[in-house]
Amino acid sequence: MANQIVHRAACFRGKPNIPGDKSISHRALILGALSEGRTEITNILTGGDVQSTARCLGDLGVSIIRSGASDGTTLTTVEGLGVKGFTSPVRVLDCGNSGTTIRTLMGVLAGGDITATLSGDASLVRRPMRRVAAPLLLMGARIELTADDYAPLTIQGSKLHGINYSLPVASAQLKTAVLLAGLLAEGVTRITGQIDSRDHTERMLRHFGAKLQESSSELSITGGQTLVANRVLVPGDPSATAFWLAAACLVPGAHLRLENISLNFTRIGFIRALQRMGANIVVELESEVPEPVGCIEARFSNLKGIRVTVSEIPALIDELPMLAVLASQAVGETVVEGAEELRVKESDRIEAVAVNLRAMGASIETRKDGFTLAGRQSLRGTDIRSFHDHRIAMAFSIAGLVAEGDTTIHDAECVGISYPEFFATLERLCRP
Ligand code: S3P
Repeated sequence: MANQIVHRAACFRGKPNIPGDKSISHRALILGALSEGRTEITNILTGGDVQSTARCLGDLGVSIIRSGASDGTTLTTVEGLGVKGFTSPVRVLDCGNSGTTIRTLMGVLAGGDITATLSGDASLVRRPMRRVAAPLLLMGARIELTADDYAPLTIQGSKLHGINYSLPVASAQLKTAVLLAGLLAEGVTRITGQIDSRDHTERMLRHFGAKLQESSSELSITGGQTLVANRVLVPGDPSATAFWLAAACLVPGAHLRLENISLNFTRIGFIRALQRMGANIVVELESEVPEPVGCIEARFSNLKGIRVTVSEIPALIDELPMLAVLASQAVGETVVEGAEELRVKESDRIEAVAVNLRAMGASIETRKDGFTLAGRQSLRGTDIRSFHDHRIAMAFSIAGLVAEGDTTIHDAECVGISYPEFFATLERLCRP
């Protein structure tokens, strides 16, 4: 599937199954591997990024087995070894396209007993790793980076000690690396600064029996705690859901119902932004622990432009390409600021959005940390460059639903990173 053609949609309706949340799936595998006992994970994401985490853990000697459950969902079992039970990998740990895999494993391996080299694909080896290495080095880790910032990187496990660390970026991957290194360190690790990113690691550490102290400005963890294996039910991924919510808002007559979706507050900034844009969306929370889960209903909407500011960015960072496409169809201007992290994702997402919106005939003004878009711009179908970035491919597939003529998404197989069934589901939802 190199290229994928998307036609203008005449209708959009249905009740799609949403794949398991990517962030929660990674954490379930990794905390399972660090625990005592067998962890059972239901509805884990089958996408490429989570396979990268499973492959790396397998190379470290962790047994992970997938099977079908009686109700048609998938069951994944992880036999916990604890970091001290990991065996030296005989090859470079290939983290593929996955920032979460490499950065989380950096935190884990820093406090282990073995030496490992981690690397990834052409995109991953261009993404900054110094931000994670910096606090780990302060804790006593031994890490060698390529050109002082990048993978391939080699970690020699060492005895770590707790630190006080102020996070300079709102990155959950960074926060997770420091928390997991803190779990393996001697003493207390206190984290302050930009801690307001997704909180799945904190929730899952508790679910596996660890104690964390948490306030609005500080997180702390005492090293040496033992994790106890548990069952994890992975809810639907709100970042995957975002594409369908956007399509429902854009296609006249659309109606969509989504069930068993993660409604974690730190992940649903896109829903809050859509509601401010005037979207016809109803959200119903059904349960709260260990992760908030519920259902969402969305219908065609007359959207208006909004301003998105820095404090909102962590909760919708992965949805900003989709938001940009939506903003091009809203009434009035949309401004996004404080989102410079978009420049160092799987692609430079500000650039990728601008190149593709312009190719479709829209205008967009970009800045280092965001963009400004005029509303109500007509889009024409054209060739879209995915930049091998799953979220760009999916956001512009939705743009294709409202463009004049056909849209060709190049290198569309990248959707498999987070949503292998994306195009099959799109086709079903557009069927009259
Ligand atoms: C993720 C954190 C975010 C997000 C990524 C998944 C995670 O990255 O963009 O898709 O699972 O922790 P940053 O930590 O770099 O913000």
